[in-house]
Amino acid sequence: VLIDNPAYNFDFKLVIVGDSAVGKTHLLRRFVHDKFDHSSMSTIGVDLLVKEMVVNHTWGRIQLWDTAGQERFRSATKRYYRGCVGALVVYDITKHASFENIPKWLEELQFNDTHPDLRVIMIGNKSDLDDQREVTIKEGLEFAKKHKLMFMETSALDCSNVDNAFYTLISNVH
Ligand code: GTP
Repeated sequence: VLIDNPAYNFDFKLVIVGDSAVGKTHLLRRFVHDKFDHSSMSTIGVDLLVKEMVVNHTWGRIQLWDTAGQERFRSATKRYYRGCVGALVVYDITKHASFENIPKWLEELQFNDTHPDLRVIMIGNKSDLDDQREVTIKEGLEFAKKHKLMFMETSALDCSNVDNAFYTLISNVH
């Protein structure tokens, strides 16, 4: 159970979605455990990581809901989309199929009670595996432009762009 803290100037709910094994959990853990104080807890069907942080000179809390990509857990995870103001939609640059599924994830977010002004960043993760790349940066950029999404390639393994991606999304919802 989360304890309300009146000292917070903001309290955002974000969700991360994408196919199984694209690296969602690793991205969240990289972001939450690397820099600031954090707390985390598990819940049934999804995990919640909480990060307290300063954004634009104000102090607040980010709730990061980690959803399972596997089909069999999906009905359980959808209810956690409710009220989310930001989403990270992740594919794996070494798995073209995970990129092809991005429209499905966008649709799922749209139809499951997220905030009407939901901000979305598309993430091409595992940029460290450039030699196994199946999705070009150009493909990612073109898709993002067409669907008006923010876009970044990241690596949870070598840290590349992880903070950048989260801060870009968070400062956009702020
Ligand atoms: P589900 O919970 O099934 O939806 O998967 P997930 O998207 O949360 O994937 P997870 O974070 O569990 O990562 C899947 C695998 O990819 C793990 O073996 C990770 O070690 C690996 N992985 C995650 N991020 C990266 C990355 O940036 N680079 C590389 N090389 N491997 C990564």
